Amino acid sequence: MNEKEQHYEQLLPQVASLCDGESDLIAKMANVCALLHAEFGFWWTGFYRVVGGELLLGPFQGPLACVHIGYGRGVCGTSWKERRTVVVPDVEQFPGHIACSSESRSEIVVPLFSGGEVVAVLDIDSRELATFDDTDAAFLGRVAAMMV
Ligand code: SME
Repeated sequence: MNEKEQHYEQLLPQVASLCDGESDLIAKMANVCALLHAEFGFWWTGFYRVVGGELLLGPFQGPLACVHIGYGRGVCGTSWKERRTVVVPDVEQFPGHIACSSESRSEIVVPLFSGGEVVAVLDIDSRELATFDDTDAAFLGRVAAMMV
């Protein structure tokens, strides 16, 4: 197991304790993004919820972000539309990337499913290129599954 995998393994019980027995998704999002942000020192860590046919900004840590994202728009809307985790090693190479912060260089977006539908996405931005890989995708997918 590499260092990043160990770090995630260590965090999973904390995610479980933040989520178990808590039914309010927004409250869970608030604590989970605070935990991930503090542990990994990401640039922006937060959630968008599917509300009224678009993605609406939810709890986050980091600089101010855009509030509304359309279906299929940007990395977040693509993750929602394609119902999959999207890893972007270089945001400048992603057609339609929405630049909430000019500092962001790489990004990962992980969908949260409930009842077979995407109900939200977890979005994480880094100021470094190629921060996210299959390890992040796998563990953040587990985090997302623990939240709903
Ligand atoms: N970059 C995202 C928009 C959200 S911000 O990164 C917080 C996107 O392209 O969907």
